[in-house]
Amino acid sequence: MSSPDPASPAVPTHAVPTHAVPAVPAAPEMVAFVAALPKVELHLHLVGSASLDTVLALARRHAGRGVPTELGALREFYAFTDFPHFLEVYRRVNLLVNTGADVITLLGGLAAELAARTVRYAEVQVTPVRNRMAGISYDDLAQALVDGRALARRRHGVELGWVFDADAALGPDGAEQTVDFALGHRPEGTVGIGLGGAEVGVRRADFAPAFRRARDAGLHSVPHAGETVGPGEVWSAITELGAERVGHGIGSAADPRLLEELASRGITLEVCPTSNLRTAAVASLAEHPLPTLLAAGVPVTLATDDPGMFHTDLNTEYLRCHQLFGLGRAELADIARTGACAAFCADDLRTRILTEIDQLQPA
Ligand code: HPA
Ligand code: ZN
Repeated sequence: MSSPDPASPAVPTHAVPTHAVPAVPAAPEMVAFVAALPKVELHLHLVGSASLDTVLALARRHAGRGVPTELGALREFYAFTDFPHFLEVYRRVNLLVNTGADVITLLGGLAAELAARTVRYAEVQVTPVRNRMAGISYDDLAQALVDGRALARRRHGVELGWVFDADAALGPDGAEQTVDFALGHRPEGTVGIGLGGAEVGVRRADFAPAFRRARDAGLHSVPHAGETVGPGEVWSAITELGAERVGHGIGSAADPRLLEELASRGITLEVCPTSNLRTAAVASLAEHPLPTLLAAGVPVTLATDDPGMFHTDLNTEYLRCHQLFGLGRAELADIARTGACAAFCADDLRTRILTEIDQLQPA
């Protein structure tokens, strides 16, 4: 491993992932169905989407920032013991993204991966305040997003939207700065405002003023909530932040009244099963609350969160849900439809995706 940044606390590494993800042996017809199913990805972080190869390239480009420059060590670096450990690793990888060219490298790799999984549209969470801390000016970041989006469309046929997310660790002031960027630069494709990072000890409600300003300016509200804590923060996300979708939201399963509220208001949860396992937000996939959410009629879309870090992709998430929870073709197609309906994309794109899904409907 390369030498760590002396300013950063030590990050433990582990030879064996503590939360190993089961292999996905699925029937070839189901693999083919999921591969052909047109999909949207509504919960995906720019930095966490980078493949191991992309991160290695960046780590070598910017050596000495505490991220391994060899494949084996990088794999170990990505074995997370718990959620705070994941956030610390994420923070370090984020520091590798130093220039507009780095952002375009990430977006090019991401768009290729999305196209390979038949993803037509994705909303990407970008954390501008963290990017600026890593050395990118807001002007350069905005330009790289515009250029990267055009490249994704031209080269890979994938449409991208931006959600600018505040890191809860940077407090309400960081959220105000996030909104300053989103409204001041508003690069093409800007659709929403988000909130990520820790939930323990950080109340969603404290971010209400920043979210109000963003919503008043026409941005959609898509905070994380109920990822590692219970339903209380999901209630806050809805009532205080005006959440139109919720990142994760799995803590909702413990509150039947909240499930009813989500179902009746059509608030979609962006559910990321492998992420939840890999960060130890759930103890095992068998215990994942996805079946409870679906049974309650809550709109659910599947997503990968940080596919490069969690060694997953969107097709794998669909196949895992087939295998673990018995979701068949019709249910998986419904999940894809829910995502298309909850996306903040142009209506003609939404219609095109829905039509494509219908054409694939199983007998
Ligand atoms: N939750 C909170 N913060 C994050 C996540 C997440 O799923 N991914 C990247 N930063
Ligand atoms: Zn996330």
